[in-house]
Amino acid sequence: MNAEKKKKILVVNGPNLNLLGLREPGIYGSATLDEGMKALEARFPQVEFTFFQSNIEGELVDVIQQYGFTADGIVLNAGAYTHTSVALHDAIKAVRTPVVEVHLSNIYQRETFRHTSLITSACVGIIGGFGMDSYRLAVEALLIKN
Ligand code: DQA
Repeated sequence: MNAEKKKKILVVNGPNLNLLGLREPGIYGSATLDEGMKALEARFPQVEFTFFQSNIEGELVDVIQQYGFTADGIVLNAGAYTHTSVALHDAIKAVRTPVVEVHLSNIYQRETFRHTSLITSACVGIIGGFGMDSYRLAVEALLIKN
């Protein structure tokens, strides 16, 4: 990777993550999505971030396709689509940019329906269980990979 140029990282958040701060704070914490993403920007001034959130599966596929040949990395919290979406699996496989799967919670400590991820096998790695720090760790991982 080019040392002078900022790395381009897309951070994608899926369904219900727009409600962070309000949504089950005992599981997901009290920070809003906006606060979490601003903290990432502050932490990594050497990165040019693009942030995207949608509750719609096809829009998540679209944005992965859109950035998946030009960005240096993608951080993806697919929310509940993690457990259901063959389309997201296929989109991650289809692009060249490495994708790191993230979760705020440790999905393996939760209900059994969350123990299956359809996207892990398409991603370069998975980080979960560290709240908003999961995103920071995913960016660190992408910077090492690049
Ligand atoms: C989540 C875990 C998923 O099981 C859940 O559907 C989410 C959030 C997490 O960040 O811990 O929406 O991806």
